[in-house]
Amino acid sequence: MKGLILSGGKGTRLYPLTYTRAKQLIPVANKPVLVRVIEAIREAGVIDIGIVVGDTASEIKDALSKRTDLGVNITYIPQDRPAGLAHAVKISQEFIGDDRFVMFLGDNVIEGGITELIQDFANNDWNSQIVLKEVPLAEAKSYGVAVLNPDGSVNRLIEKPPEPPSNLALVGIYMFDHHVFEAVNSIQPSKRNELEITDAIQWLIDHQYRVYPHVHQGWWIDTGKHADMLEANDYVLDELQPFIAPDAIIEDSQLDRRVSVEAGAKIINSVIRGPSIIGENTVIKDSYIGPYTSIYHDVEVEGCEIEHSIVLENSKVKHLDVRLQNSLIGRDAQVSSDSIGKPRALKLYLGDHSKVWIPK
Ligand code: G1P
Repeated sequence: MKGLILSGGKGTRLYPLTYTRAKQLIPVANKPVLVRVIEAIREAGVIDIGIVVGDTASEIKDALSKRTDLGVNITYIPQDRPAGLAHAVKISQEFIGDDRFVMFLGDNVIEGGITELIQDFANNDWNSQIVLKEVPLAEAKSYGVAVLNPDGSVNRLIEKPPEPPSNLALVGIYMFDHHVFEAVNSIQPSKRNELEITDAIQWLIDHQYRVYPHVHQGWWIDTGKHADMLEANDYVLDELQPFIAPDAIIEDSQLDRRVSVEAGAKIINSVIRGPSIIGENTVIKDSYIGPYTSIYHDVEVEGCEIEHSIVLENSKVKHLDVRLQNSLIGRDAQVSSDSIGKPRALKLYLGDHSKVWIPK
C-alpha cells in the first residue's frame, strides 16, 4: 500500500494568507495541515508516500525537509499545471506501480484518522473505496456528490452539481487499486477543464469495478476557506493532549488545564483559557488568550485580548483596546493601537484581498 497526497493548488479561497504560502502549510493547532495528513497516513502503517506538488513545490519541500519526526519516505511528483485530481493520479502512475494506494487531499482534516478505512480496503477486494460525509444540502454543490443505491452501493457521482441530488459529499480521501489508471486515461476534461477524480470513479462504476462507499460519522474539514480554518482549529484543539514544554517560562499567569505551551515560550502576567496552544519562543505578556486560539511560533502578544483566532509566526499583536476575535493573522503581521493622538484614525497597510471588520 502506498500513499498519495495532493499538494498542488493555489489556495485562492484563502487569500491573502496563501499569496505567499502553500495552503497545505498553514498550521491548524500549530501543526501544518500537510503534516497532519502525513501523520494520518503513517499511523495507518503506510510509509511510502508520493506528494504531488505544483507552484509551491520548493516551499513544501523546504518545510518537510526540516522535519525529522515524519518517519516516512517521500517522493515528490511535480505537476506542471493544476489540471485536476485525476491528472495528479495519472502522473503518479510510475510511483504507484501496481500497488493499492490511498489518496488524500493535502488540505483535508478528518476526525479519527484513516487507519480503519485502510484496513477495510486492505481486507476486501474492492477496486476503490470512497469516503462520504453528510453535509447540509445547500453546501453540497461545492463538492463532489454521491447518490447511493438502496443497498448502499454507489449509483453515481457528480462533481459540484448546481442542484445536488443528495447531501453526501465526497471527502478528499480515496482508495484505489491499479484499475484507476485505466479510468484516468479514459475520461475527458470537465467544464472547468480539469480531469476530475469524480469522473474517473464514475468510469470505474460504469465498467463494473467495485467501488465501495464509507460514510464518515466524525467531523471533516476541507480547510480551503477561512471559516473552515478556524473550525478545523477548534476541532483539533478539542482533541489535543495538553502539554507544557519543560523550558517554557510561566510567570504570574493563570493557565487552564487544556492549554499547551511549546518549547521556549514565555507567558507573563497573563490568563490563557483552553483549549489553546502557544507556539515555540512566543511571548505573551499582560494579555488574555481565550479559548480556541492557536498562537504560532515567535509571536509577540502584549496588552491584548485574543479569542477564537489563529496567529501565524513572527507576528506582533500589541496594546489593542478591543478584543481580537474570530481572526486569522498571517506571518510577520503587526496589529497594534497607535498612540499618535488626534485625529483618531485607523491606519491600515493591508495586502490584496485582506479583510478588516471594525466594531461600531
Ligand atoms: C475536490 C473534489 C471534490 C471533493 C473535494 C473535497 O474539490 O473535486 O469532489 O468533494 O475536493 O475536499 P476541490 O477542492 O478541488 O474544489
